[in-house]
Amino acid sequence: MSGAAKQAAPGMSGDAREGLSGKTVLLGVTGSIAAYKIAGLASMLVKKGARVHVLMTKNATNFINPITFESLTGNKCLVDTFDRNFEFQVEHVALAKQADLALVAPASANVIGKLAHGIADDMLTTTLLACKAPILVAPAMNTNMYDNPIVQDNLKTLRSYGMRVIDPAEGYLACGDTGAGKMPEPETLFAHIEAVLACEKDLEGKRLLVSAGATQEALDPVRYLTNHSTGKMGYAIAKAAMLRGAQVTLVSGRTHLTPPLFVETVPVVSAQEMFEAIESRFADTDILIMAAAVADYRPKEYADHKLKKKEGAEHLVLARTVDILGTLGPKKKPGQFVCGFSMETEQLIEHSSEKLKKKNLDLIVANNLRTAGAGFGTDTNVVTLIDAQGACELPKLTKLAVAHRILDRILRQG
Ligand code: CTP
Repeated sequence: MSGAAKQAAPGMSGDAREGLSGKTVLLGVTGSIAAYKIAGLASMLVKKGARVHVLMTKNATNFINPITFESLTGNKCLVDTFDRNFEFQVEHVALAKQADLALVAPASANVIGKLAHGIADDMLTTTLLACKAPILVAPAMNTNMYDNPIVQDNLKTLRSYGMRVIDPAEGYLACGDTGAGKMPEPETLFAHIEAVLACEKDLEGKRLLVSAGATQEALDPVRYLTNHSTGKMGYAIAKAAMLRGAQVTLVSGRTHLTPPLFVETVPVVSAQEMFEAIESRFADTDILIMAAAVADYRPKEYADHKLKKKEGAEHLVLARTVDILGTLGPKKKPGQFVCGFSMETEQLIEHSSEKLKKKNLDLIVANNLRTAGAGFGTDTNVVTLIDAQGACELPKLTKLAVAHRILDRILRQG
């Protein structure tokens, strides 16, 4: 393989797949104290490029003024079916046709009941009845109302019609009770919308295992050996793959990051624990991506008490950890794809190409710690993708965009 990498066409720093541009989202807001939180959700969606239309029940207008939504979305907020001041001939049908997704949040017991039984007596319920796009429903109500078998039966009915019910959170409710019935936070509702709308689902049916973060190798109950990895790259891969429809398991060393929703996260600490978590899942995996910075050494002996300092120099004896990719790469079965990462400070292509061969990898993602915009803790990365055909350097991209490029490459080859 040639030592010089081909320069890829300069690209933008993000990835179009990071947003929701071109998507139309209908937000149905009903009469519940949580209605005010939907302003935050509408704003998030608009910032991500979605066209947002808000439909409110009359009761909802007691909790938040339609003008708030109109200001945030730039679109008329619809409440009344017979409002004469609108743009379309038959507004509820027009909106239902434009929608890529509708979310009813907060969904009151009353509106859930109407939806379950086909009652369409206002703008929101008529629009939803005419809507063929995916419909998500986030119930929010008093915990006793939520537990009522009538509401539970209605939710079951909604599910049977293909609507997705977002389970309410548990906690202190505005009515003073504590229990299930709290509307999930706007960030969670956004994640549900994003999981449906973002990205073509070109990894549907694939099981992807990704590792992230640094391992910690304990010396005693107080101290450990580790490295500077923050886990951002591996978490970005997990999220991108999830958005593209893969069934994702994320084996994560300790990080400060919040695991992406809809990803199974397996927390581990040491290289040995990471090895066991990955090895036990490897046979059921279509794609393994090792983005973790696994320690190559651990203290040979673990002291079960805090080691006390002594006068003079101390020598630490180290033992090798298991090379996870070096063990599993050579065992891969036809159809399995194994991708590694390689961080170097010199001779990036040569060293990384050696790892590609030695560990029997299909692809290695190499980066130079000394390149501006690459490395630990940054939100961007500058990587070179190396496979048996050669090397291709990508421009500086967000880690999510790098994740998408890696997945694009895997799909092309796999
Ligand atoms: N890796 C692994 N198990 C280890 C060490 C590394 O599976 N014990 C994986 C990493 O997750 C990465 C790839 O191997 O995907 C290359 O890791 P890197 O640290 O760059 O290279 P090493 O093989 O450890 O070699 P060196 O440290 O000498 O560069």
